[in-house]
Amino acid sequence: MFDLKSYLAEKRRVVNDALEGFCGEPADTPRILAAMRYSLMAGGKRLRPILCLASAEAVGGDAGEALAPACALEMIHTYSLIHDDLPAMDDDDLRRGRPTSHVRFDEATALLAGDALLTLAFEILAGQAEQDGSDPARSLRIIREVAAAAGCRGMIEGQMRDLAAEGKPLDADALEQMHSLKTGALIRASVAAGAIAGGADFTAIQALMRYAGKLGLAFQVTDDILNVVGDPRVMGKAAGTDIDRQKSTYPALLGLAASRRFARRLIHEALAAIAALDEKSEPLRAIAAYVLERKR
Ligand code: IPE
Ligand code: IPE
Ligand code: MG
Ligand code: MG
Repeated sequence: MFDLKSYLAEKRRVVNDALEGFCGEPADTPRILAAMRYSLMAGGKRLRPILCLASAEAVGGDAGEALAPACALEMIHTYSLIHDDLPAMDDDDLRRGRPTSHVRFDEATALLAGDALLTLAFEILAGQAEQDGSDPARSLRIIREVAAAAGCRGMIEGQMRDLAAEGKPLDADALEQMHSLKTGALIRASVAAGAIAGGADFTAIQALMRYAGKLGLAFQVTDDILNVVGDPRVMGKAAGTDIDRQKSTYPALLGLAASRRFARRLIHEALAAIAALDEKSEPLRAIAAYVLERKR
């Protein structure tokens, strides 16, 4: 039987070690690096980098080739959380079990730490193309996928829609689009980057992208559900804030029971999308089940 707990623990260790390597030493650290490390090394779940590594393995590639993109994706995700928590956006005080960056440091430092993590991510992606034995065409494809997902037709547009929808409930189609952009885009890019790094063929990429689309949406639906029913001590961030800010969410639109059913259906569809892939996709299947059951 595949043991997801050990798999996640092992991959988290690999990702955390690599991130440590990219983000400098703790002693004598300039304030900007300290702020970057503070948010990056605060104990996130590492879902996006793990998806990246697992996708490389699922297509028969080597997870090591996907490690640089995996770290870059976690940096972009962490930057998005630092900015998401700013007073100008969701104005949250707690993230990953710690005071948010602008609370611990100050707003300017939080803005710049986010900017710096985003920029470092692309330095790392480009650096991979220069390594001996690397395939620069693959690296370029990954850079384009990640840039497109993070940018104004992906995550940023999703965040714009999220903020514009405060107090103005979206209908089901618009809500699905918003979630697919703000959270789904980077999750799709994580799977795509891993698959490209692992040398996937066209059919495998198609299947994995269908999987990632469903998984990414389900992930944000469960985030919405946890904001209503989750335990802040377990999540490391506040609950109840979506209702306070009149956010457009699935529980607000459909209620909790229907939101849970929707998430279950999405995970079912994610699993169906990769049904034809072999046993090397077992971690991706187990991750899909985990997304549904997660408490943090
Ligand atoms: C939180 O992401 C924000 C969303 C996009 C839903 P995660 O739930 O992956 O947060 P960390 O990385 O574990 O802190
Ligand atoms: C965060 O979405 C999405 C991004 C940062 C791109 P939310 O605002 O819904 O996530 P939490 O609940 O603060 O983690
Ligand atoms: Mg937000
Ligand atoms: Mg938020």
